Amino acid sequence: MLGRLNHVAIAVRDLEAATRTYREALGADVSAPQALPEHGVTVVFVHLPNTKIEFLEPLGENSPIAKFLEKSPDGGMHHLCYEVSDIRAARDHLKAQGLRVLGDGEPKIGAHGKPVLFLHPKDCLGTLTELEEV
Ligand code: CO
Repeated sequence: MLGRLNHVAIAVRDLEAATRTYREALGADVSAPQALPEHGVTVVFVHLPNTKIEFLEPLGENSPIAKFLEKSPDGGMHHLCYEVSDIRAARDHLKAQGLRVLGDGEPKIGAHGKPVLFLHPKDCLGTLTELEEV
């Protein structure tokens, strides 16, 4: 069911500093920042030959990553995202296996304009896990 690793997301408090570290110290190809008010984050993408790293900085009052950064003020890995070909079939299969899907269980349009779902970290080895239909 699982396809490629689409991205690893890292929550950061300072997107500019994170971009500088990856661009200048690590020599990576980092995109321009993109504000996603409907998701409560500003993102940049680090393009690697085999996947992407996504930095998430809180945007607005009720950012979904604010709590995470309170607990991890230096930043940290926030979630993994795997590609699936049929997100509703994947959801139904996972629910039948006893995994919890966050929210109302309906796919939402994610940061890349594609349908996504998140699985409860307690059911996925302590790791928030995103599925993206590609
Ligand atoms: Co993501």
